[in-house]
Amino acid sequence: MKILNLGLVGVGRIGTMHANNINELRPGLAERGLEVNLWITDVAADYARGVAASLGAEFHCSVRQMVDAGADALIIATGTMTHPDLIRAGIAAGLPVFCEKPVAGDVESALPLLEEIAAANGRVQIGHQRRFDAGYLEAKRALDAGEIGWIHSMRAITCDMFPPSIEFLAASGGLFRDCSVHDFDILRWLTGKEIVEVYARSSNNGDPAIGEVGDVDTALSLLTFEDGTVATASATRYNGAGHDVRLEIQGSKDSIVVGLDEKAALRSAEPGITFPSGAAHQTFIERFDAAYRAEMTAFVEFVLGERENPCSPWDAVAASRVADAAQESLLTGVPVRIAMVPANS
Ligand SMILES: NC(=O)c1ccc[n+]([C@@H]2O[C@H](COP(=O)([O-])OP(=O)(O)OC[C@H]3O[C@@H](n4cnc5c(N)ncnc54)[C@H](O)[C@@H]3O)[C@@H](O)[C@H]2O)c1
Repeated sequence: MKILNLGLVGVGRIGTMHANNINELRPGLAERGLEVNLWITDVAADYARGVAASLGAEFHCSVRQMVDAGADALIIATGTMTHPDLIRAGIAAGLPVFCEKPVAGDVESALPLLEEIAAANGRVQIGHQRRFDAGYLEAKRALDAGEIGWIHSMRAITCDMFPPSIEFLAASGGLFRDCSVHDFDILRWLTGKEIVEVYARSSNNGDPAIGEVGDVDTALSLLTFEDGTVATASATRYNGAGHDVRLEIQGSKDSIVVGLDEKAALRSAEPGITFPSGAAHQTFIERFDAAYRAEMTAFVEFVLGERENPCSPWDAVAASRVADAAQESLLTGVPVRIAMVPANS
């Protein structure tokens, strides 16, 4: 049996979910001759010791200690502003790294890191889990097969049911960088085209504390692609009907919708229509449960050299460029052109 020591850094909302998923993936990985040891560290040490104990994982005091103990890879699930230094620690130790999106708080801080990753031949996968979601994968297949024809419009929606804590929001980079960045990434990935301009508008009708930390609770981005195709991406922290992530793609031949199933957080205004009839998702963790597990399986395969990187930092920063430009558009009140991310040479 080959042993894989995975060092998980940060066990808050998403880190704990990744830890649970790694535990659930154990039997399948064992069938492939792989025994996974899960090691956990977090600056909230006492809390993390408890999480480790409850998951049968091993607590480590620091990333350094995990590296010295022989970690084979790092999984970074800490707050956004800590990502660059933790990615640096991983690549300096020669380890493959999975890091949650975004790469950094803004593109300016991410660009030197991209150069460092390239110089070190670092292997870094960024966590854009929608690339593993069955609905988005089917949309990609249909687009690539030409079934949709040429796209005339796309409407992306990312709605949280409740805002995260104000402490989280204050260090998140804002709604575009934290939330809409998922739509920006998946729209680029699906179409294979760059977004070249964004015009953003927002509102703040929920908790005034969100505005006080410089963020907005709702926003709409009008996107223009390099071939002139237009799309909108809307996001909110206050969707009472449930956690709602959808994408409508309409083309010259057909239309396709991602996220329209029995759990969609919608009800029809038409008489006699009972679809969708299931209980809506409440959180991103429920909505993307299968996708997060597939993403972690892909990371293990990436670590083992069995597959290409499914989401490079260059790709992720290209989506972050759109988020930064949307933020700028909000501040300036005008559309903002988007510069391209230099390719990894
Ligand atoms: N892919 C997705 O769908 C998705 C969803 C939610 C969050 N995220 C991303 O995941 C990251 C974490 O979000 P969250 O909601 O879990 O945050 P969180 O605040 O719930 O958890 C962060 C954890 O990291 C720990 N931490 C902070 N700095 C640390 C450090 N230097 N070393 C070790 N531990 C440290 C904190 O103590 C906390 O336990 C964010 O960057 C966010 O953008 C991604």
